[in-house]
Amino acid sequence: MTARIIDGKEVASKVHEEVAAGVAEFKSKYDKVPGLTVVLVGDDPASHSYVKGKERACERVGIATETIRKDASISQEELVEIIQGLNNDPAVSGILVQLPLPKHLDEDAVIHAIDPMKDVDGLHPENAGLLMLGQPRFAPATPLGVQRMLVEQNVDMNGAQVVIVGRSKLVGMPLTALLLQKGVGANSTVTVCHTGTKDMAAETRRADVLIAAAGFPGAVTPDMVKPGAVVIDVGVSRVEDSTRKRGYRLTGDVEFEGASEVASAITPVPGGVGPMTISMLLVNVLQAANIAASN
Ligand code: GUN
Repeated sequence: MTARIIDGKEVASKVHEEVAAGVAEFKSKYDKVPGLTVVLVGDDPASHSYVKGKERACERVGIATETIRKDASISQEELVEIIQGLNNDPAVSGILVQLPLPKHLDEDAVIHAIDPMKDVDGLHPENAGLLMLGQPRFAPATPLGVQRMLVEQNVDMNGAQVVIVGRSKLVGMPLTALLLQKGVGANSTVTVCHTGTKDMAAETRRADVLIAAAGFPGAVTPDMVKPGAVVIDVGVSRVEDSTRKRGYRLTGDVEFEGASEVASAITPVPGGVGPMTISMLLVNVLQAANIAASN
């Protein structure tokens, strides 16, 4: 079997068009545009590259965007003060603090400082709690992107055996909550594998839909994939590659060549989940702006 390649850029373009239309409607209704402010601390090259992608996407759909760049030496107090300023700024519909933060900062406390109504990352305990209770307000963008991609590919998630590899707060946990809900693109039977899982391959081989979000290359090998499964690769790692001008290439968690001989459909890295994450962030920003404007 040679798997169909799921084109994340194509689905993301469709979402961009929807958001652009929503932004135009918002503008004509309220005579202003939604705004996203990203807070970027330190000089992690991957984070800088993600943030550039977010800025470009906002500009494409008409969302005002600003990035506050701060040195890695910033104190907890100064960072929280910046967030409080953004909480009180009516031009800011959504706030995103790019993760990971430098080690001396308390990531949880920083996220808790964000106004939950501006938490377009869906990481504030109020939004994470609402998602767990089946009353989602803002869900994290990557899980939303994975779900939207599956829906667009007409993958029947109702009753599907879904196995997620990884239990992070950005992906594994919220994706579990999303796919467990009743409704379109969900109502699945979800298993989450993690470092405590005894026989990972036995679990993943049961998956109709296998979602790799472990964060390291080779986490999912071809023998772990059930023939005909849909494989979604959330991982993005930089690996050294002297044949590339940049000196590295991006790779996912899944051994792509081998897995595509077994799966029925698979996402590439890059060009799979990555573009979807950005487009679903835009959806959240527009939603935040609409909620704020209608209150
Ligand atoms: N770092 C990698 N992915 C994400 C994300 O979705 N949100 C934030 N805030 N940081 C990230």
